[in-house]
Amino acid sequence: MTQDKQADFSRRLTDILNHGALNLALAIGYQLKIFDVMAELGRPVTSRDLARAAGLHPRYVEEWLGVMCTGRIVEIHCTDSSGDALKETQYFLPEAHAAHLTREAGNGNMGVYTQEIPLLTQIAMARVLEDFSVGDGIGFSAYPRFQAFMSQLSHAKHRQVLIAHFLPQVDDGQLVTRLQKGIRVCDLGCGQGIALQLMARHYPASAFVGIDNDAAAIDQARQVTADLGLSNLTFHEKDAAAIENDPLLAKKFDYITAFDAIHDQSHPLAALRGVLHMLAPGGLFSMVDIDAASHLAGNMDHPMGPFLYTVSLMHCMPVGLSDQGRGLGMMWGRDRAVSLLEQAGFRRIQVLEMAHDPFNVHYLSWK
Ligand SMILES: C[S@@+](CC[C@H](N)C(=O)[O-])C[C@H]1O[C@@H](n2cnc3c(N)ncnc32)[C@H](O)[C@@H]1O
Repeated sequence: MTQDKQADFSRRLTDILNHGALNLALAIGYQLKIFDVMAELGRPVTSRDLARAAGLHPRYVEEWLGVMCTGRIVEIHCTDSSGDALKETQYFLPEAHAAHLTREAGNGNMGVYTQEIPLLTQIAMARVLEDFSVGDGIGFSAYPRFQAFMSQLSHAKHRQVLIAHFLPQVDDGQLVTRLQKGIRVCDLGCGQGIALQLMARHYPASAFVGIDNDAAAIDQARQVTADLGLSNLTFHEKDAAAIENDPLLAKKFDYITAFDAIHDQSHPLAALRGVLHMLAPGGLFSMVDIDAASHLAGNMDHPMGPFLYTVSLMHCMPVGLSDQGRGLGMMWGRDRAVSLLEQAGFRRIQVLEMAHDPFNVHYLSWK
């Protein structure tokens, strides 16, 4: 190895250490809503004023600002506009950064994703490390705060997009007309039911059902649905792999969705057969999943390759391996997804890219 190559790699590793550390501090800032407070203030403020506005301890905020400023997330102002030294240093979150770090950012919110790696770290350094030698997989329930995190992600993903952009594109707009008239809809792997609550509120003539095998998520979904007063939305706690053998669910739905919920199933083929079993003749299935190539070589230039493979290694693959499962992982990719849908028995499958969501792909399938 030449000296130059060694120096380059050393610089890259330095960047990696800095960015890993920044991710952790960004997650803390996001969770404590410090970015939201800075965006609301909309002007340079001292660390004491920021701490006061955020209701936090000033010394912690000051040190956190050290990370944010050296990491070029927050601007540091030591002089005023005429160049004179300020009495006290001030800090400012540029609008362009707030547009990706605050809850207001909606679909552009990347702050919510900064929590993912810190959230997975505890389990990665314990259970995942251990499972490298064993390979049994890890159950969903072992992951702390997973459903609460998914629900935040779901809000960020769906709030501005599901009704306004996603549904109108399904079946050339025909689905929306049917939703307005009244059809039966199921969301499989619904988690805390965010997508369903949005749809049920917007299409009161249609009936919506959520299915998930996580009892706590279903409880939370039911509670929020009751608080919202939505009478056209119910939930079932059920294992997707067992649906194909349930006669009560046969041909019950005209449209089924699965958002980010097939690749981490232990038995994804059985789950897809369950979807087919639940669909009425001519029914439609929207499977939205991470867009990737099915072969690693095809993902070498993926802009979020290391991030997505890490999340898959720490979560999607181990949960998919549990219960002697398939362990597809998040980066199973288009070819394997289409092949599994075909194996399950779907007769027509369209692979649709979504302008509003370049990291996912929509597999629209007909019974
Ligand atoms: C990554 S989360 C996605 C949640 C939600 N669809 C969203 O987009 O926010 C995957 C969901 O699938 C559920 N799930 C996993 N395996 C399942 C199974 N065998 N049967 C039913 N649900 C399952 C999990 O409990 C979790 O809520």
